[in-house]
Amino acid sequence: MSTIKHYLQFSDFTADEYAYVLERAALIKKKFKGYEKHHTLGDRTLAMIFEKASTRTRVSFEAGMYQLGGSVVHLTTGDSQLGRAEPIEDSARVISRMTDLVMIRTFGQEKIERFAAHSRVPVINGLTNEFHPCQILADIFTFIEHRGSRDTAGGALSSLQGKVVAWVGDGNNMANTWLQAADLLGFTVHLSTPSGYEVDEKLAFGGKTPRTGCYKVFKDPLEACKGADLVTTDVWTSMGYEAENEARRKAFADWCVDAEMMASAQPDALFMHCLPAHRGEEVEAEVIDGPQSVVWDEAENRMHVQKALMEYLLLGRVD
Ligand code: CP
Ligand code: NVA
Repeated sequence: MSTIKHYLQFSDFTADEYAYVLERAALIKKKFKGYEKHHTLGDRTLAMIFEKASTRTRVSFEAGMYQLGGSVVHLTTGDSQLGRAEPIEDSARVISRMTDLVMIRTFGQEKIERFAAHSRVPVINGLTNEFHPCQILADIFTFIEHRGSRDTAGGALSSLQGKVVAWVGDGNNMANTWLQAADLLGFTVHLSTPSGYEVDEKLAFGGKTPRTGCYKVFKDPLEACKGADLVTTDVWTSMGYEAENEARRKAFADWCVDAEMMASAQPDALFMHCLPAHRGEEVEAEVIDGPQSVVWDEAENRMHVQKALMEYLLLGRVD
């Protein structure tokens, strides 16, 4: 119905668009650190719709939009008509007539797609059961910041080429999004998930055949970490799956990132976690609080990359 650019999953952008957005995020971060004004979205309004809890996504989008000179409207299921069964299509028609951009955190991906199909303005996925593209955007920015170089031929993204990301844990929204990123940007994901919690390849790649070698499956999480440049994990039970908590606690007991796993990775391997984390479950405290962990930069970078993302969706390339 429209040519509006949305950001509903990682594969919605090309590698070239990522190169631009990441470069722009670096500039935006530098200006933020130098207390320099960057009001490119003055008078623009972002609507944020949360059907699940959030700390980082809310703070990063809200603070980020104000820093760009705009303002925000915050809605949750409990305090809007969304919780009283107003159709998502009608909500999209109404909200997008009064705001310039919408960020949604919800359950099924089909819900955000239906919203986008009836929206007059760009829609951003702030997490669904299937994908979490803003988080992987921040993770890639963080990896480049710590281990990449902006000066290599081909730009910062070329520092990801051939790298190995070890995913230890649930085949969830984060895992699906890492796979999409690996397919597009030329790195490999070593996937290790407990049996019964594997990634659904059809869902992750939307039925498209992925690039050969973009991921490899390992039964043993320690094997998956061998030689990795980045080791990453996530909660055993994602939001919306709480009823499975007990079964998951048993199934995931061996999928805890520990010092042995980190030692089997590259000596300069990084550790990331989208947070919130549960020390002693998916990660040992000595890893997440240890010297290879970059989780606080990762969290902060959500804001910088999302500022660049919002700018790009509303203004396109500005330099
Ligand atoms: N990583 C992340 O999306 O955190 P929140 O759930 O706190 O937004
Ligand atoms: N996979 C987690 C990520 C939280 C930011 C969830 O969906 O709950």
